[in-house]
Amino acid sequence: HELPALRRALLEWFDASGRELPWRAGPEGGRDPYRVWVAEILLQQTQVARGLGYYERFLDAFPDVHALAAAPEAEVLKAWEGCGYYARARNLRRAAQIVAAQGFPGSSEGWLALPGVGPYTAAAISSLAHGEAKAVNDGNVRRVLSRLSAQPAPTERWVQARADALLDPARPGAWNEALMDLGATVCTPRAPRCGLCPLAAFCAARASGDPAAYPAPKVR
Ligand code: ADE
Repeated sequence: HELPALRRALLEWFDASGRELPWRAGPEGGRDPYRVWVAEILLQQTQVARGLGYYERFLDAFPDVHALAAAPEAEVLKAWEGCGYYARARNLRRAAQIVAAQGFPGSSEGWLALPGVGPYTAAAISSLAHGEAKAVNDGNVRRVLSRLSAQPAPTERWVQARADALLDPARPGAWNEALMDLGATVCTPRAPRCGLCPLAAFCAARASGDPAAYPAPKVR
């Protein structure tokens, strides 16, 4: 079966060429949950390149969950300036007060119960911070998986099922970030760089000769 070879190819690429991002410090599957959490909330609507400066600034202002929980809302909103979507900052502070009182959640269900944390964010945090085998499903993942299977019209359900099936249970956090990085840097919406892609040999869209045609634009 080609699944083990596919997983190995992507993870080897990630280990060699994945992006160095500030919340990726620390042991795989055992990252600082606070740093991962703030990153995933910030990146919900902000691209990585644009978000990095804001991320460092926010962590300087509130280096741990207790600092965030104790801060007046106005200060938190001030530190969030430029990121937009201030509801995210309000939710983050409210959730920090819950975490400061109860401790960090230990599973994706626990994260999901916090204000501002939806299924995508819960899967990302639990895989990165706890090594839980939860597959993330965002725009990058959708595009990569659509191309891999030459599926022109991937539904949410299809993407989640494919992501769940492919997820490497030995390294779920690295696997999720590898797909995100591949989508952001190689398997880009236009002009994908198939020559650099560790999954080119496995990719049905590449075999079709027109990888950028997948997924087809959504009909509205
Ligand atoms: N976008 C959202 N979360 C991310 C992560 N952990 N790594 C890279 N890009 C992301």
